Amino acid sequence: MNAAALGVCALSLIFAAGAACAQGDAKRGQYLAKAGGCLGCHTEDRKDAAAFAGGRALKTPFGIFHGPNITPHAQAGLGRWSEADFIRAMRMGVRPDGGHYYPAFPYPSFTRIANSDLRDLWAYLKTLPPSSRPNRAHELRFPFGWRFLVAAWKWLYFSPGPFVADKARSPQVNRGAYLAQALGHCGECHTPRNFLGGPRRDRHLAGTKSGPEGKRVPNLTPAKLKGLSDAELKDLLQTGITSEGDVLAETMGEVVRNTTSQLTPEDLDALIAYLRALPAIADESR
Ligand code: HEC
Ligand code: HEC
Repeated sequence: MNAAALGVCALSLIFAAGAACAQGDAKRGQYLAKAGGCLGCHTEDRKDAAAFAGGRALKTPFGIFHGPNITPHAQAGLGRWSEADFIRAMRMGVRPDGGHYYPAFPYPSFTRIANSDLRDLWAYLKTLPPSSRPNRAHELRFPFGWRFLVAAWKWLYFSPGPFVADKARSPQVNRGAYLAQALGHCGECHTPRNFLGGPRRDRHLAGTKSGPEGKRVPNLTPAKLKGLSDAELKDLLQTGITSEGDVLAETMGEVVRNTTSQLTPEDLDALIAYLRALPAIADESR
């Protein structure tokens, strides 16, 4: 693609008319979907479930969310969406009709994904076999069923926009930061939240006693992980088994299966380099 075509592409992203652009790369998109863990939340929890056809029940303090069907089926899935609709959903947490998504869809992380990576993800989703599996309504506790409350939450906690590399850091640490923050959304579980469900930025990746399903999620900063060598950490993220032979709890086991074990060795090294470069934050005593 020449510079002029690139310019047209950038403009058509701004004006939400993707047609003039060349297609994203579906094969790269497949890798990015793994790095983003899309499969876990968007697939039913049974052996013969159609991949990405929706149905996973996600238990949160606000109620139960059901990951929707994101296959290209015209009625049940995203078959009628444009690339611009998809980019807006991921970048802004907004539906094609303008409604707000709940942050159970980790768009507060996905907003950091680069435009070219979003286009590759969209190209991949379009190659999936369309499934007619209907979506299930979320079962939320009062008053969280009111979608417009999400607008207030977003105003408080959501800062949209792609990842910006830190020039003071090595390219490897920046790649790791991108994988952890934009795609891997590690902070969605490993960063504690306040009572409104907003991330506590002063304790980024420092673990929480009340993670998904009320369970403890460990501290990933050097204060805690310094006990593990790079090789041990790499092994853990590839196999889901600790150096003592314990199997990681299923919430993380699934992240390992769907995401970290699927990363290239270079990307896994980058992720580890980023964890090593985090400021050390001690566990909270209470
Ligand atoms: C932690 C669980 C989780 C992960 C991981 C996740 N999603 Fe979702 N996603 C959801 C939930 C829940 C919703 C519905 C949000 C709502 O209804 O407000 C959703 C909604 C969506 C929608 C809007 C669908 C519609 O019908 O309006 C798209 C598109 C989407 N996700 C794509 C992705 C992609 C691509 C990935 C991987 C990069 C991904 N999701 C990873 C939970 C998740
Ligand atoms: C869906 C929630 C969730 C997500 C997302 C998540 N984790 Fe975890 N993680 C957990 C839980 C829960 C544990 C504890 C497992 C156990 O103790 O058996 C854990 C454990 C770990 C451990 C082991 C730490 C130790 O001291 O034993 C590492 C390392 C880790 N996660 C890294 C990551 C990275 C890197 C990411 C992002 C790519 C990530 N996690 C995303 C929930 C999550």
